[in-house]
Amino acid sequence: MKVSIAQGQNIKIDANVCIAKKSDFTKSASFKKLKAFGFEGEGKFFSQEEKTLYVCLETLDSESIREIGAQIVRYFKALPYKSVGVNLEGKWNEKNAYALLIGALLGAYECIVYKSKKPPFVLKELILCDEKAILKDTQNMVNKATIIAENVNFVREIINTIPQVATPKYLAKIAKQVSKDSGQIECVVLDENDLEKEKMNAFLAVNRASNNPPRLIHLAYKPKGAKKRIVLVGKGLTYDCGGLSLKPADYMVTMKADKSGGCAVMGIIQAIAALGVKIEVHSIIGAAENMIGGNAYKPDDVLVSREGKTIEVRNTDAEGRLVLADCLSYAQDLNPDVLIDFATLTGACVVALGEYTSGIMGHNTALKNRFESIALESGELMATLPFNRHIKKLIESKIADVCNISSSRYGGAISAGLFLSEFIRKEYQDKWLHIDIAGPAYVEKEWDINPFGASGAGVRAGVEFILDLASKA
Ligand code: BES
Ligand code: ZN
Ligand code: ZN
Repeated sequence: MKVSIAQGQNIKIDANVCIAKKSDFTKSASFKKLKAFGFEGEGKFFSQEEKTLYVCLETLDSESIREIGAQIVRYFKALPYKSVGVNLEGKWNEKNAYALLIGALLGAYECIVYKSKKPPFVLKELILCDEKAILKDTQNMVNKATIIAENVNFVREIINTIPQVATPKYLAKIAKQVSKDSGQIECVVLDENDLEKEKMNAFLAVNRASNNPPRLIHLAYKPKGAKKRIVLVGKGLTYDCGGLSLKPADYMVTMKADKSGGCAVMGIIQAIAALGVKIEVHSIIGAAENMIGGNAYKPDDVLVSREGKTIEVRNTDAEGRLVLADCLSYAQDLNPDVLIDFATLTGACVVALGEYTSGIMGHNTALKNRFESIALESGELMATLPFNRHIKKLIESKIADVCNISSSRYGGAISAGLFLSEFIRKEYQDKWLHIDIAGPAYVEKEWDINPFGASGAGVRAGVEFILDLASKA
């Protein structure tokens, strides 16, 4: 399905959507007519005779319009109309128009690969009808929404791929394809021997009991004239059973989505290259599988990380931070102006913020606040979580430099963030952000523009953050 904007009168469409503010609509003539059919101006009403879906909203803000964009597609996708035109009675502006487009494209996604009978999807095009030609730059708007949505959906599809198929090697194969398709992205893959040479012992320990070898994937987009370099790091656990600190059965389900951060940074770099943004972007994916077996790494082990810091392992389920510690070390060698990691790192972050919101952590308050406001503007819910020196003490180890879990059961998202901070060199502390996407990465009950399954969390916020960086460079 695609989206477009048509300006002027006589737009050819098979069915109509009429969005109105409830307080305006209930005063209109069409309402009086529909009232006879029992429509009171709450939610949606489809008039068969007019082939029009009436949608009433409390307010016409971009959040509501984005969500309605997704709902319109879900409503029409299986109905016998190929094109649907959406009207907002002369109230379009650049912000709500973009929200409708991206909402529609993100709402159109469904994970159907494993269904032997594919559900029908008749709808081919959603057309935003700008009859009064109010909108400027419509081509750019459609282009941007399409590129970002395609990448969110691309990321969702990889995350939704079953763990039997989506192994670290598989992610490396996808990354090479990304590089080939774009023609502007380089791809280097480090295998287990390279990781050994790089002294990435924490990363390697996590993968040791798996039959699938680990991979560090490094994608690089280096456009001419780039004035800034951003390095993104993603947790790419293709499965996390917890290791010897085994997860209870109920908690293990959905852990195919523990690669969400890694997949997100692939989608972000691909979108940035497609948009032709003049910022150098690197995406580092730590792809590993946390399994169980006779050679598994153990609680009580001490690992020597790539940075040289020693780590006492007290829980093998706190594995993401071990993989990230070594990947962040590798990332800093690239001398970034900004360094951001995306990870489904802790259940504690979900407890703290709820399942719709990602946590932003770091030492640079201005950078955290900037990322938060850009994320919110992009349609992703995020909130900052504060580090403090008391929580930092909770990851001290009696036998090594640092411990991989906190000695307290509280503040787990922050202690995980502070663990990562131990591997950030002094000169990069203020350039680094950690985004814990454990809450919104995987959706078990559809909400907003998210269908069941992977949401593609981090992609919209990450792309918008880089676009903002480019506008200031
Ligand atoms: N991948 C999980 C975190 C997670 C939990 C992601 C729920 C998405 C949804 C991570 O590796 C993990 O298991 N973390 C532990 C850390 C604990 C052992 C300190 C957790 O959150 O329980
Ligand atoms: Zn874990
Ligand atoms: Zn994990």
